Amino acid sequence: MLNHIIDLELLSFSDLQEIIQLAGKIMKNPKKYSEACKGKILATLFYEPSTRTQMSFQTAMLRLGGSVIGFDDPMNSSVAKGESLKDTIKIMSGYADIIAMRHPLEGSAKGASLYSSVPVINAGDGGHLHPTQTLTDVVTLHNEKGRLNHLNIGLCGDLKNGRTVHSLIKTMSHFEGNKFILISTPELGVPKYIKDIMDEQGCEYVEIPTLQEAMPLLDVLYMTRIQRERFASEEEYLAQKGVFVLDAQKLSLGKESLKVLHPLPRVDEIDVEVDDDPRCVYFKQAVYGMYARMALILLTLEGAKYSYAKGKVIIDETGCPNPKCITHTEGYMPKEFRKKGNVLICEYCDFQKEL
Ligand code: CP
Repeated sequence: MLNHIIDLELLSFSDLQEIIQLAGKIMKNPKKYSEACKGKILATLFYEPSTRTQMSFQTAMLRLGGSVIGFDDPMNSSVAKGESLKDTIKIMSGYADIIAMRHPLEGSAKGASLYSSVPVINAGDGGHLHPTQTLTDVVTLHNEKGRLNHLNIGLCGDLKNGRTVHSLIKTMSHFEGNKFILISTPELGVPKYIKDIMDEQGCEYVEIPTLQEAMPLLDVLYMTRIQRERFASEEEYLAQKGVFVLDAQKLSLGKESLKVLHPLPRVDEIDVEVDDDPRCVYFKQAVYGMYARMALILLTLEGAKYSYAKGKVIIDETGCPNPKCITHTEGYMPKEFRKKGNVLICEYCDFQKEL
């Protein structure tokens, strides 16, 4: 089985530990790993804009002694001529040893993995998941908090469309004693399926409407951007913009040991006046991300066998009702679901439809 990294949820606790440990070893002694991927090629296929994810994947591979190919604007590739995702992936997997792909449609990474002869890493699939950001976040918390359990984790901003939020909750809900404090407007709250995951894990969560109320409770504050590109209209975006802003006054309500993370880019949700507060670690977080991706590339290319067991797959030709699911634009992809109680869960985007 190939080691596609589509959803961090599917990695075991020991897989995650292995990645965190290796990232730490590389950080301590980067020279030792400077030729570890010599002769190997990473393809970065970015159908959506990115600074950190794309550049950190590329620098990760270069620092491991490997090479990088790819595009950061699909309109400069044959996608502009109408090439399907399947065909692009089949071609690229003949050229490269590993693929990191970002795409605006949900479930696109899973879709790509069906047609790739080399490992595919999900570098963000629409508003769905962003597993390597979660690896970045977990490596940051491990290094900055010294533990991954018994943390009060505040998540603030766009919790509906924030794929980094969804991935982080899914992963951190597995660690004992973590509690989530969800700070958002009612319109941008976490989707039901994420609440279901917290419930299933027996994970406590509360919804608090203001940062001021939440601040004193938190060990970690994970700020997020209101994602303009995910709104149906500019009007809806403007109604949400600027509701939550972390400034010096609000930060003063936080614990001394608080750590503030943000996947970045930020717009206006963190005032630049707090950037130099030692509790704000979002720029360090981006550097941890490079080491996390170095560890992931290395382990994946070494053939680490990550276990994948989402459950028995069934085909339902009526398809996924989520209009942002990759199966709509790439109609040849098999309409796969897993059954859970009286719902069918889309194998690509995790959308749940009632039976
Ligand atoms: N955090 C993150 O995904 O940033 P980019 O969009 O710049 O890659």
